[in-house]
Amino acid sequence: MIDIENIVTEIAEEMRAHKDRGTVASYIPPLACVPDSKFGVAVVMADGTIHSAGDADEAFSIQSISKVFALTLALGAVGDQLWNRVGREPSGTPFNSIVQLETEHGIPRNPFINAGAIVLCDVLLGRHQPREAIGQMLRFVRTLSGDDAIAIDETVAGGEQDTGFRNRALANYMRAFGNIHAPVERVLGTYFHFCALAMSCRQLALAGRFLMDGGRVDGHSIVTASRARRINALMMSCGHYDNSGDFAFRVGLPGKSGVGGGILSVVPGVASIAVWSPGLNPSGNSQLGTLALERLVQRTGWSVFEPR
Ligand code: DON
Repeated sequence: MIDIENIVTEIAEEMRAHKDRGTVASYIPPLACVPDSKFGVAVVMADGTIHSAGDADEAFSIQSISKVFALTLALGAVGDQLWNRVGREPSGTPFNSIVQLETEHGIPRNPFINAGAIVLCDVLLGRHQPREAIGQMLRFVRTLSGDDAIAIDETVAGGEQDTGFRNRALANYMRAFGNIHAPVERVLGTYFHFCALAMSCRQLALAGRFLMDGGRVDGHSIVTASRARRINALMMSCGHYDNSGDFAFRVGLPGKSGVGGGILSVVPGVASIAVWSPGLNPSGNSQLGTLALERLVQRTGWSVFEPR
């Protein structure tokens, strides 16, 4: 019998004491102010019990983890037609890279690199104005988490606007290939607000439940089981950019990271997990968040590659 409460407490203590914490993202000024001493973990089990430790109730900038929710909404809007505009292969390049877009005619490798998520925003703007698309996202994560307190941090969204030159380059470049339809500034405004969603580990782990449970939350279907399986597959293969192979090697779970230091990870049928530690490794993924998940799967046997 796994004592998950004890394991989570132990891991939080180990992470608190850990010296090599990575580097907090500084390219968006509000992110640079977050102390690297923070660490939180929350595990929501399939039976609804929650185990948490450390700073699990403190909201942080979920950044690229929002790409999972944007993908879910975009698939809901246009279904499999989405795959005409976004690929499903790991990029092997940094999250903000432009290099593959030229030879691949403006089609991003996958929905979890910046270029891919910018296309997701454009898809959502096919039916909405930016304000409505942002409202739709906010309602979606609030419903998934069962928590209406979730909000967008406008200071972070402003920081993204002020510094998002690469994202502007990506969006304009894709527009030149015809893969962005709405005006670039509207698409980016939507993208920046999605990145600026602030959530705690507890809220994030609750929001991930539909991916743990075949697309359902509390008996309600959010997506079909096959769609949940495919989103999990993309998180495993592409959720950590050019570090995705290493994350699969070390952790062996679907996972999506953000430069705020959060990671959402899913143990299908068993648990939804969120970890947060702001210091990043050179690929922009949480250094201690990854280590914490690695230790969690070592102690629980939860990797999808373990025999059950
Ligand atoms: O587009 C950006 O620069 C960010 N706001 C989102 C990046 C992100 O989280 C990618 N990371 N791991």
